[in-house]
Amino acid sequence: MLRDIRKNYQHDFLDESKLTDHPLKLFKQWLDDAIIQEEEPTALTLSTAIDGQPDSRIVLLKHADEAGLVFFTNYDSNKGQQLATNNKVAVNFFWPKLERQVRIKGHVEKLTSENSSDYFKSRPRDSQLGAWASPQSKEIKSRNELDKSFEHYSNLFEGKEIDKPSHWGGYIVKPEVVEFWQGRPNRLHDRFRYELESGQWKIKRLAP
Ligand SMILES: Cc1cc2nc3c(=O)[nH]c(=O)nc-3n(C[C@H](O)[C@H](O)[C@H](O)COP(=O)(O)O)c2cc1C
Repeated sequence: MLRDIRKNYQHDFLDESKLTDHPLKLFKQWLDDAIIQEEEPTALTLSTAIDGQPDSRIVLLKHADEAGLVFFTNYDSNKGQQLATNNKVAVNFFWPKLERQVRIKGHVEKLTSENSSDYFKSRPRDSQLGAWASPQSKEIKSRNELDKSFEHYSNLFEGKEIDKPSHWGGYIVKPEVVEFWQGRPNRLHDRFRYELESGQWKIKRLAP
């Protein structure tokens, strides 16, 4: 029965001694742990909101430092259109083996075309072709249409370097609130929230 599925969280704890001055320093430590332990350490849930209606999907983290978190997508996709209207986002990482969650609120900014191209060049050729072939989030008639589109671009770029499509690129999430959750026994989890106030990160412990 669903109601009988439960886990007692006891892998680790988070206390004041482990907190860093900047939340993305602690985030990087947790990400490093996740890269060792988790199946999909870089998968994040990205939530957008338009006209009061939230929408969520997974994207992959491709860079993280104190400036923010970077992911790549199709700027013409649903999420791209939503972000053009409302650049506020929520991000969630769940690392089940580590019994950790990180929640981030902030806004996105587009990367420069040069920065997106740098990353695009590092992708496998088939992924580059995929970016050309898929009109992400648009209705397509069949799988065959997609396969044909891939074949078309594959022929078009045969023997040539593949340029980044103008509709494809990165966003950087600039965090304003970052919350760390470490599962603890008896549902008495550890929660710390960092909030950016006048350029300074303020930290609070929250009840679970
Ligand atoms: C594990 C996983 C990784 C994904 N990574 C990306 C990604 O990095 N970029 C992306 O645009 N979509 C990625 N997707 C697909 C998105 O979840 C989503 O289906 C797609 O971006 C279209 O979303 P939209 O219609 O809201 O724009 C990924 C999905 C999964 C399950």
